[in-house]
Amino acid sequence: MRIAMIGTGYVGLVSGACFSDFGHSVVCVDKDAGKIDRLHQNIMPIYEPGLDTLVASNVKAGRLSFTTDLAEGVKDADAVFIAVGTPSRRGDGHADLSYVYAAAEEIAAALTKPAVIVTKSTVPVGTGDEVERIIARIAPDKGITVVSNPEFLREGAAIEDFKRPDRVVVGVEDEASAEVMREIYRPLSLNQAAPVLFVGRRTSELIKYAANAFLAVKITFINEIADLCEQVGADVQQVARGIGMDNRIGPKFLHAGPGYGGSCFPKDTLALMKTAADNDTPVRIVEATVQVNDARKRAMGRKVIKAMGGDVRDKKIALLGLTFKPNTDDMRDAPSISIVQALEDAGAKVHAYDPEGEEQARPLLPNVTFCTGPYEAAEGADALVIVTEWDEFRALDLKRMKTILNQPLLVDLRNIYPPQLARDAGLEIVSVGKPAQAMTQPQGELAGSAA
Ligand code: UDX
Repeated sequence: MRIAMIGTGYVGLVSGACFSDFGHSVVCVDKDAGKIDRLHQNIMPIYEPGLDTLVASNVKAGRLSFTTDLAEGVKDADAVFIAVGTPSRRGDGHADLSYVYAAAEEIAAALTKPAVIVTKSTVPVGTGDEVERIIARIAPDKGITVVSNPEFLREGAAIEDFKRPDRVVVGVEDEASAEVMREIYRPLSLNQAAPVLFVGRRTSELIKYAANAFLAVKITFINEIADLCEQVGADVQQVARGIGMDNRIGPKFLHAGPGYGGSCFPKDTLALMKTAADNDTPVRIVEATVQVNDARKRAMGRKVIKAMGGDVRDKKIALLGLTFKPNTDDMRDAPSISIVQALEDAGAKVHAYDPEGEEQARPLLPNVTFCTGPYEAAEGADALVIVTEWDEFRALDLKRMKTILNQPLLVDLRNIYPPQLARDAGLEIVSVGKPAQAMTQPQGELAGSAA
């Protein structure tokens, strides 16, 4: 299949590279000449493990190329994917679809033969219908059809998620388009790597928002349970394990922490709320989730202040991890931003280290002192706070930390350290959703014991 991918952001670039790795011939198009120039030199615009080698090998094999010329890129394509941004519109929270519609217009004008236009960007219900109207206006006789194919990949695990997804969702309204999509995803269905679910286009558009909103609800639910655990002396990790063993609930996305961030959950929950409100069917659970999560980020700053005794004026606080999650350099809606704000508002001096996020973090956190490693950040600090669970923070030398910290306090907002381990190293530890004192109850499970 000949595929054109419009937009070389996270979704576009990863999808384009993976489709070419399946054996399809892919042209990635972006208006940003600097980005395309750098891609020609195999410099990736984003940090994503394994992406540079995947791009390089497929470019070398002649299956993947980059251009700024949309007309040239799409003219022979069997399928043109739209993977441009759909940011929250300033002011009202609706998804801003101007990039999607502009791309649709250009594609419709440039196509020279029948093709399928596939929306991969996350777009509200009904966007496919609007794209169809644009095509009917600009190129009514070219045999162009419109399909929805939302992407569920996670940053940091994007290639694996694309190649081994839980499912592929395709929204189609006609059999010929379904056939093209079947052909594109044949490598996945042949290997039985993933089921391909064919649904109507509007249903497909809603599946994407419903999935992200559900995951945001799940995280927020366990975060509130974590707060309750702290009050009643229970352990949220054990609660999560205990409920997650019920197959109807499932064990994933039950890690309590400082709240979700990133490029998708905050934006998509807002957009779903807007669509729901416009259709007089408010999604109150999602509304509550957004409010609770927003409040939580700053509350985590207050949690640190409380752990330090309430007064942090002129105290030095070391933060480990700033990105919204590990294995990315993405700072969008990262909890660290609100946490730093709360700490600085209370008069603290923040020193921080992040393995990949410094460049994006600097303009957002102008008063933070950036360090080159966890021990440099911790030197003389009155508290060490883990905000993002990068792997390199999982094996810190806690005894060394104890000797270099001014106050031996670890605030572990991602629960990566069993409290006893920290206490054994001489550190006082505050976790999320854990009893303040060491547990005395029995832990673990009895293999094979009757329920
Ligand atoms: C998410 C969806 O997972 C993906 O399917 C969709 O395509 C895009 O949005 P992403 O934003 O890359 O992906 O990251 P994800 O791994 O889902 O994490 C999102 C946020 O939730 C992070 O801030 C993470 O720290 C937080 N999170 C996740 C938790 O706090 N607890 C959890 O148990 C899981």
